[in-house]
Amino acid sequence: MPFGHTRDFGTKRFDARFRRGGLVSVPNHVAIIMDGNGRWAAQRGWARIKGHKEGVRAVEDVLDAAADAGIQHLSLYAFSTENWKRPSLEVAGLMALLRMYLRMFLPKLREKGIRFHHLGSLEGLPEGIQRDIHSLEETTAGYSNMVFHLAVNYGSRLEIVQAARRCLEDGLRAEEMTEDAIAARLWTAGTPDVDLLIRTSGELRISNFLLWQAAYAEFYITDCLWPDFRGPELREALAAFASRERRFGGI
Ligand code: FPP
Repeated sequence: MPFGHTRDFGTKRFDARFRRGGLVSVPNHVAIIMDGNGRWAAQRGWARIKGHKEGVRAVEDVLDAAADAGIQHLSLYAFSTENWKRPSLEVAGLMALLRMYLRMFLPKLREKGIRFHHLGSLEGLPEGIQRDIHSLEETTAGYSNMVFHLAVNYGSRLEIVQAARRCLEDGLRAEEMTEDAIAARLWTAGTPDVDLLIRTSGELRISNFLLWQAAYAEFYITDCLWPDFRGPELREALAAFASRERRFGGI
């Protein structure tokens, strides 16, 4: 598929809220750096992969809770371009989990009307995963309650470099290299900026996730390890977001 600046990720519910006008305190786009699976497993004396497995259960819970809360876009960071540096056994385990669960997500996506979208480079991913990603994107393309963006083999710097290259390939002149031109060539093209960026397990880093899109995001860091982050924890983060005053550089 060509890069996605022609795709429309508008969702019905956002349009409805937009028409009603007024203050929208539910974030439109929530992004989560799911951290702490390894520590969660270590605390129990288990292998790291068990933490990742439980992490997938948290993904399912959070998908449910996010759709119920009226969030329009949920972006989850599952595997970064830097994660290939992990021990090969762990990488293989994560890829196997992805393969298994990409298929198992479908009933949940159907039930909740959630569209699936991959963020990241397909290049380098096992062929089976590439096929599953395509198939899940195609099967769910008509769903419009929420978009679930799963970042797999994702790196924000790589994304920006690719967008800049596409600008050149498209023959843009220097004065045409605008923020809109670049945004339209990111993997997130057609998706609103991140409103709320959550990181679990207490680390204070952005880890090359959505650097462009999170320029004005509110940050929410919790000590909760990812496998323990479920519906109630998401709702706590949403309550914290609702109490923030956003100025977008103004006063
Ligand atoms: C960070 O924890 C977590 C990851 C690198 C992987 C996250 C992946 C999942 C939750 C599985 C996703 C799968 C699907 C199908 C959506 P860590 O290993 O860095 O934890 P640590 O910092 O405690 O070691």
